[in-house]
Amino acid sequence: MGKDLTQVTTTFYICDGGSCRKAGSDPVMRATRAYLRNQGLWNTTHTIKTRCIGRCEDAPAAIVHPGDYWYKNLNGQNVITVMQRHLEEGKPVEELLVFKEGSTVINSDKERPKKVPKPFSLVEDEDLGVIYSTRGFSTDQYTYPLFLYLAETKSPATLTFPHGQTHSFQNIQALEYGKYQLIMTFKEADLTSILAFTLAGIPKTEPMALQRSRVLVTEFFYEAFNPEKRGIRLKDKMGRLLAIIWLDSTDEKVWNYCLNVQLSMSEVVIQS
Ligand code: FES
Repeated sequence: MGKDLTQVTTTFYICDGGSCRKAGSDPVMRATRAYLRNQGLWNTTHTIKTRCIGRCEDAPAAIVHPGDYWYKNLNGQNVITVMQRHLEEGKPVEELLVFKEGSTVINSDKERPKKVPKPFSLVEDEDLGVIYSTRGFSTDQYTYPLFLYLAETKSPATLTFPHGQTHSFQNIQALEYGKYQLIMTFKEADLTSILAFTLAGIPKTEPMALQRSRVLVTEFFYEAFNPEKRGIRLKDKMGRLLAIIWLDSTDEKVWNYCLNVQLSMSEVVIQS
């Protein structure tokens, strides 16, 4: 039988993401579960291993509910104090909190500056000529939303491959994100084309072709002498061109989406 959630008063979400594991989340989880078991608190509490909760600099990190208490720098000893304080006194351990409901500041000892894309800069590109360009983020937390946006809005944007094959997102029929790959189906003039890009991190044991098609560089650009000519260039790990998504010069919506959502800019910012 699964956990009887009707009995649970307190839940400990312990991060088991890569940074937390490296920093020692296993001893934290083991100590937590052993303590709860031995104190007879197993049925009234719940422990959940999570993937990254977005506070890697505070690893090992955890969240306690109720109360939305976010903890930092846990170890096999201080997590016992955390549990005792919550379960016996209904209070948090303030000095280990990175955040709690109502806080207006993050109380981290190692807060990292937020990563933001660089401003556009003028470059002479050997393939595209004189352009303004900047790199976006290339994890699938950005690339999947980008493709999804283009597909869902049936944007007037064209996917162009190095060998000349082109497909319009206005003709996309389906888009599916599997384990690592994004599979897109285009139907154009009775011809159905199925295309794939690898977006997720992929183990080295997977076929080389799959690894090679991984999008690891995403460049947003516009031509210096023809600013309406804009696009997104996708490259692999070695900097080889995978494809270019050319945006329609009359369509501002996609470009604004790129600036606002993908690049966190409200307008084009140029390196001075
Ligand atoms: S891996 Fe734990 S917060 Fe990121």
